[in-house]
Amino acid sequence: MKDTIVLYPSPGIGHLVGIVELGRLINQHHPSFTIIILITTAPFNTGSTTPYINHISKTNPSLVFHHLPSVTVNELESFPSLHHEALNFELIRLNNPLLHTALQTISQTSNVRSVVLDFFCGIALEVTFLLNIPSYIFFSSAAGALVSFLYTPTIHRNTSKSLKDLNTYLDFPGIPSILSSDMPLPMLDRNDPAYSGFLSLSLFTAKGNGIIVNTFECLEEKAIKAITEGFCVLNGTTPPIYCIGPLIMGRIGGESGNGDEMRPCLTWLDKQPSRSVVFLCFGSYGSFSAAQLREIALGLERSGQRFLWVVRIVPTENTLNASLSANGNPDLESLLPKNFLDRTKEQGLVVNTWVPQVDVLNHISVGGFVTHAGWNSVLESVCAGVPMVVWPLYAEQRINRVLLVDDMKLAMSMNESENGFVDTEEVERKVRSLMNSDEGKGLRERTLAARDQAVAALSEGGSSRAALAKLAESWKSG
Ligand SMILES: *[C@@H]1O[C@H](CO)[C@@H](O)[C@H](O)[C@H]1NC(C)=O
Ligand SMILES: *[C@@H]1O[C@H](CO)[C@@H](O)[C@H](O)[C@H]1NC(C)=O
Ligand SMILES: *[C@@H]1O[C@H](CO)[C@@H](O)[C@H](O)[C@H]1NC(C)=O
Ligand SMILES: *[C@@H]1O[C@H](CO)[C@@H](O)[C@H](O)[C@H]1NC(C)=O
Repeated sequence: MKDTIVLYPSPGIGHLVGIVELGRLINQHHPSFTIIILITTAPFNTGSTTPYINHISKTNPSLVFHHLPSVTVNELESFPSLHHEALNFELIRLNNPLLHTALQTISQTSNVRSVVLDFFCGIALEVTFLLNIPSYIFFSSAAGALVSFLYTPTIHRNTSKSLKDLNTYLDFPGIPSILSSDMPLPMLDRNDPAYSGFLSLSLFTAKGNGIIVNTFECLEEKAIKAITEGFCVLNGTTPPIYCIGPLIMGRIGGESGNGDEMRPCLTWLDKQPSRSVVFLCFGSYGSFSAAQLREIALGLERSGQRFLWVVRIVPTENTLNASLSANGNPDLESLLPKNFLDRTKEQGLVVNTWVPQVDVLNHISVGGFVTHAGWNSVLESVCAGVPMVVWPLYAEQRINRVLLVDDMKLAMSMNESENGFVDTEEVERKVRSLMNSDEGKGLRERTLAARDQAVAALSEGGSSRAALAKLAESWKSG
């Protein structure tokens, strides 16, 4: 029977892509393992992953996808939390019996050496413990963010208040202090099921056989040391952590990933001077109000810097239908200030489709990145040696900002007002500073150094390659 590693991502394309990249990495360096990826069928819409799965099946035949049946649950419809994370936790919990059956079935024809769960699937450890299969957690964000999650039960015991009411800096081992309100939104209210979900994930994560982190040693030495020395998990042993990154997703972004409509931005970049363009892109879920888009537009125009700006809006009740054109993409003419596109046609390019972010960041004309600080985007920028302005929008991105600005010193922060709004002057100031100041120059030098360290970590004899080998060894002998 073949040695098999089962990978179990939580629903949604973002989690799937991370797990698939991990699968490809394992397959590349340790091809003796068969990789099976379990796909949860969610009874609610998480966006279609089918085109992506078909594409990966064709290009990476050694990754095998196994679809779990759908759970039919009415409770999910009236679930008492506004946070989709809580809904996901509940779905994963309800999936446990299906996972149990699937693992038993797979075990009949293969030797399941280990199950790798993404962080949000922590509760699946109840199943893998029962079946006695070694289990690892894949944490796809920074080691610094892992510090904050592992330490959450300690913070929890130290106060009876919700984080949103604490209004203080939280001290963590190995990373700079974080403002309590900068913790992920679903964790701010102690009475919300999402909060209990994160708390229990923290405990599960500490109970697995190991934690695989998408980072590399040189980037986060202090955070990694705080974890491995046991300062983050209270009253328990810390499992070994394996920093195998940076995994670069290279995904074209968005649902379908049809490349043709995305090429014009590269053609445009070809015509711009070296390192002269600031690139703005805010991830799959990052979208702004029309009012905020107007401030960004004017700020860019006044900065005088060349720009490539990806404008996405998520249609909501507050989005006027007029803002979407016939193909469902944002209608730039109606969203941006009058005559803006015409006035800036020599200065910048605004696109309303997805762009090949890795190609853009690695283009010689790109000199800076304004990003929501999603960890995948951060690593892509680091690997391209492009310094950042970070404007966090959701999830753990505010933690990432603290890590990037105060600890790694690879980014400057977009300063938002109390209600999260950023005005024209701030956009202008930060874009100019990133592209054209001593501070920006310092960030660029450090980011280029971090890029070289990333390359070294992934090379033969590098720390990430060694961590992966150690992981594979523990699977073989486990
Ligand atoms: C516990 O709370 C006190 C005051 O509220 C604070 O000074 C201390 O740093 C906190 N300890 C931890 C481990 O968070
Ligand atoms: C952790 O240990 C401390 C001190 O020994 C104890 O007071 C506390 O109850 C323990 N907490 C848990 C969750 O075991
Ligand atoms: C948008 O259009 C749909 C139908 O195409 C309509 O049902 C909806 O009310 C419209 N929303 C707004 C905000 O105008
Ligand atoms: C951020 O902006 C506010 C007002 O817009 C200002 O008072 C504050 O000093 C700024 N902070 C930084 C770090 O620039």
